[in-house]
Amino acid sequence: MARTTPRVFSGIQPSGELHIGNYLGAVQNWVALQHRYESIFCVVDYHAITVPYDPRELPARTRELAISLLAAGIDPDVATVFVQSAVPEHTELAWIFNTITPIGELERQTQFKDKAQRQESVSAGLLNYPVLQAADILLYRADTVPVGEDQVQHLELSREVARRWNARFAAPPDEPYFPEPAPLLTPTRRVMGLDGQSKMSKSMGNTIGLLEPPEDVWAKLRPAVTDPARVRRTDPGTPEVCNIYHLHRAFNPPETVDLVATQCRTAGWGCIECKRVLFDGMERTLGPVRARAAELRADPSMVDAALDAGAAAARRIAQETMRDVKARMGLAPAAPL
Ligand code: TYM
Repeated sequence: MARTTPRVFSGIQPSGELHIGNYLGAVQNWVALQHRYESIFCVVDYHAITVPYDPRELPARTRELAISLLAAGIDPDVATVFVQSAVPEHTELAWIFNTITPIGELERQTQFKDKAQRQESVSAGLLNYPVLQAADILLYRADTVPVGEDQVQHLELSREVARRWNARFAAPPDEPYFPEPAPLLTPTRRVMGLDGQSKMSKSMGNTIGLLEPPEDVWAKLRPAVTDPARVRRTDPGTPEVCNIYHLHRAFNPPETVDLVATQCRTAGWGCIECKRVLFDGMERTLGPVRARAAELRADPSMVDAALDAGAAAARRIAQETMRDVKARMGLAPAAPL
């Protein structure tokens, strides 16, 4: 049956703390979208195990990430929030999609090539990572996927999987079963790390955590790279080439951003003064998020209840999709419990 409200799906890996790149590129958008669309957000632990990890640490990371999402403003009474491995249909559909995905397409994925270079031994799971991502999205027949820019190539593959499956198995064939999911990007779709060199990323160690204590945030911000042409305090700078300026645009109101640009161009402020103003702007956003996270940590049953209810709601949709998919492919229905 056709849905009337568009459905949003997105996921995030519990492979380290949620950082401001994740927040500005994706999670901030999730918070806004949940009130306008039917929204499903997933902590993708099956993706996190495609590279070496410590199984003793994973439960705490998964939980801490769920806490960060709720603290950032995802409301479990409005959106569905759950952990991927609690809904086994994700891997079931991924297997099916593996059978219609050419290996060459997976080997061409930029993220695979990057990650594979850093591994001693590359698992089939790492290669098939984007197939599981396609399954995550298509299991819920989602239309819109709010992500950062680095996920756009994976989403192209998800659309390709949807097209290929529809062409082969949809009945009638001119009525696509899976929608082709579109990425939704924010103005801050690619947040650079504090090194000013590469994308902010857990694996590069150039992040600011969403829940980091203020003194740690300042300790990281203080030495962060700025306009390299500003060697002396009296040198005028070019805001557009400075990563700190771009963070101002994300955390401060337009009047402050204008003031920052003028003070930089005229060498009115030094970089440290400029970073102080950024720090204050960040604190206005991050302070309340940290406070909510502390409340949630003190009430573990609330987080458990939200994730359990989320998994049950997700599973109802997932089972319906798998019934349709298996019937169209000539596979056996799930045995009753
Ligand atoms: P992950 O866990 O690496 O990142 C989660 C989200 O944060 C965005 N992001 C950024 N945005 C802007 N600037 C940055 N420096 C930055 N770093 C991260 C990511 O684009 C992402 O939106 N493969 C996905 C997880 C996933 C998924 C899905 C996403 C699994 N299944 C289904 C959408 C739909 C990933 O590794 O995200």
